[in-house]
Amino acid sequence: ISGRWNQYHGLVTGPSPAAVSGSSRTVSPFAPADVLAPRIGAAIEAAFGAEYAGVDPLLRPSQFADLQANVALSLAKKVGAKPRDVAEKIVAALDVSDLASSVEISGPGFINLTLSPGWLSGAATSMAGDERLGVPRQERQIVPIDYSAPNVAKEMHAGHLRTTVVGDSLARTLEHLGHQVIRQNHIGDWGTPFGMLIEHLLDVGETSDEATLLEVDPNSFYQHAREKFDSDPAFADRARGRVVKLQAGDAPTLAVWNRLVGLSKVYFNRIYSALDVTLTDGDLAGESMYNDQLQAVCDELEDRGIAVISDGALCVFLPGYTGREGKPVPLIVRKSDGGYGYGTTDLATVKYRVQQLHANRILYVIGSPQSLHLNMVWDTARAAGWLPDDVEVVHVQIGNVLGSDRKMLRTRSGNPLRLMGLVDEANTVARKVIDEARPDLDEAIRAEIAPQIGVGAIKYADLSVAHDTEYVLDLERMVSLTGNTGPYLQYAAARIHSIFRNAGMAPDAATAPIVVAEAAERDLVLALLQFGSTVALVGDALEPHRLAGYLFELAQAFSSFYEKCPVLKADDAAVRDSRLALSALTLRVLTQGLELLGIRSPERM
Ligand code: ARG
Repeated sequence: ISGRWNQYHGLVTGPSPAAVSGSSRTVSPFAPADVLAPRIGAAIEAAFGAEYAGVDPLLRPSQFADLQANVALSLAKKVGAKPRDVAEKIVAALDVSDLASSVEISGPGFINLTLSPGWLSGAATSMAGDERLGVPRQERQIVPIDYSAPNVAKEMHAGHLRTTVVGDSLARTLEHLGHQVIRQNHIGDWGTPFGMLIEHLLDVGETSDEATLLEVDPNSFYQHAREKFDSDPAFADRARGRVVKLQAGDAPTLAVWNRLVGLSKVYFNRIYSALDVTLTDGDLAGESMYNDQLQAVCDELEDRGIAVISDGALCVFLPGYTGREGKPVPLIVRKSDGGYGYGTTDLATVKYRVQQLHANRILYVIGSPQSLHLNMVWDTARAAGWLPDDVEVVHVQIGNVLGSDRKMLRTRSGNPLRLMGLVDEANTVARKVIDEARPDLDEAIRAEIAPQIGVGAIKYADLSVAHDTEYVLDLERMVSLTGNTGPYLQYAAARIHSIFRNAGMAPDAATAPIVVAEAAERDLVLALLQFGSTVALVGDALEPHRLAGYLFELAQAFSSFYEKCPVLKADDAAVRDSRLALSALTLRVLTQGLELLGIRSPERM
C-alpha cells in the first residue's frame, strides 16, 4: 500500500520523496482514503483479474467530491480499453454503499466519491472511542536516532537547535507509532582541542569562575584557551603533550577530561530542560564512546583492501566520489599523524548501531552540508559488510536558520546567537503577548504558561517548515497568537478547554455519538479522520512539518465550525451533545498532535 494514499485535501501537500521508498505502510482505520483504497482495489481485481491486484487506485482530493480515484487513466493503457469504459467497469464492481453517498464518473474517467454523512458520523464516533485516535501501531522497528549532538566547550548554535527539535519530534512520533527508539546524542567530546581545554582547566582550577563558564558561556572558556594556545608557546607545548596523554588513556588526564565533559553536560541539560526536550544523560553516546573501536575499524578496512595508504594516511577511495577535474575524493580513516577523524568515529557508529543495537532503521538528523560525509561513511560501511541492505539509513537533512538579514542568525546586539538567549527572548515576548491578551488571568498562570508558549513558538516555527529548507527566524511573528504559529494552536486547544469549563463538564465526559449534519461539521470530521494517517506519514517520510500543517488546518476547521455551529447554545440536546463530543475529539487530537511535536497545551491562555 502506498503512503501517497494518505494525502488528502491539501492537508498534506505534494508527493513525499521519502514516503515513496519505504517499506510496507500501515493504514489508519478511519482515514477515508485508507478505507476506500482496498475497496477500489477489490473492484479492479474483480473487473480485470487477479494480475491487477495491488494497483494503486490513485486517490486524490478533489474539488468535486471528497476523493477522486484516477486509476482508470493509467489502467486503460494496460488493459487496452478507453479510460471511461475502465472507470465504468470499476464502478460497476465497486461496493461502497456503506461508505459513499455518491459515486460519479467525470471527465475522461475520474471516479468521484462523496462520503455519506452516516459513515462520517460512525467513523468520527468510533475514532472518539479509540484511545489511539486512529494512529496505527506499526510493526516494531529498532530505530536509533542521532540528533542534537552539540560539542563540548562550544556554544550550541541554531543548527543544533533545529536538529534537537526535529530529532525530538521524530523520536516522539516513532515511539508513538510503536517503534523502539534509541536516542543517540553523539556529542563532540573528543579530539585535538581537548589538550588545550584540559590544560586551561588545570591552570584555572576546576572550581574557579572561569571553569563555571563551561556551564553558562562555553565559547568564552574555549576562546580563552585558544588565545593562550596561540600566544604562549609553552602552553601550546603542554596542550600537545596533553593530547598524547589523553589518547594514551592516562588516568589523571582522563579525570580532568571527565570533569570538562561534566561541566558541559550541565550546559546541555540546561538547554534541554529549557527547550523541554526528551534528551537525558542516558542518551549521551558521544564520539569518545567509540575510542577503543577505531583501530579495529582501520585494521579491518586495511586488511580487506578497502582502505589503502595514500600520502601516509589510510584512505578509502570509493567509486563515484570525485572532486574537481575528476580527482578521487577519499574518506580518510587514519591521518598521517596516526590520529583518527570524524569519519572513523562515524564508521564505528554504524557498526555499533547495527551490531550492538540491532537497528532496523538508523536516522541521522544532521545539517545538510554533512550529506557527502555521511554517504561516504555508509558506502564504506556497506563495502565492509557492516551495513546490510535490510538496514535503512536516512540522513534527515537540517537546513539553516537565518536572521532577518538572511545571513547567519545573530542576536539583536549582533553577536552570534546563544541558544539560551533565544529561548529567554522568546519567553519574554510570550509573556508580553499573554499579558496583553489575557490581563484577566492570574499572574501565577501567566508566569507558568509564558515559557510553554515561548518554547512552543520556537519549536513550531522550526517544525512547520520542511526540515531541509532554510527559514528566517522572526520572533515577533512566531510568538503571535494569530497565523500559522504554535501559540495559535495552543490557543485553539485552550479555547476548547474553556468551552468545557463553561459547560461545567470534563472533556472526557463528552462521549455522545457524533452526528454530522452541517457542512462545517462535515469539514471538521473530514480533517479529524486524517490524524492517524498523517502521524503514520510523518513516521514514514520523517517530515514533522506534515503534522504541523495538518494541525493548523484542523484548528482552522474547528474555528469555522465553532463560528457556524453553536455548541452550548444548540437548540437540541442531541445536537449539543454531538457538538460537545466533536469539540472534545478535536481537543484530544490537537493535544496529542502538539505533544508529538514536543509542544505543551496549556489549559488556559
Ligand atoms: N557534533 C557535530 C556538529 O556539531 C554533529 C554530529 C552529528 N552526528 C554524527 N554522527 N556525525 O556538527
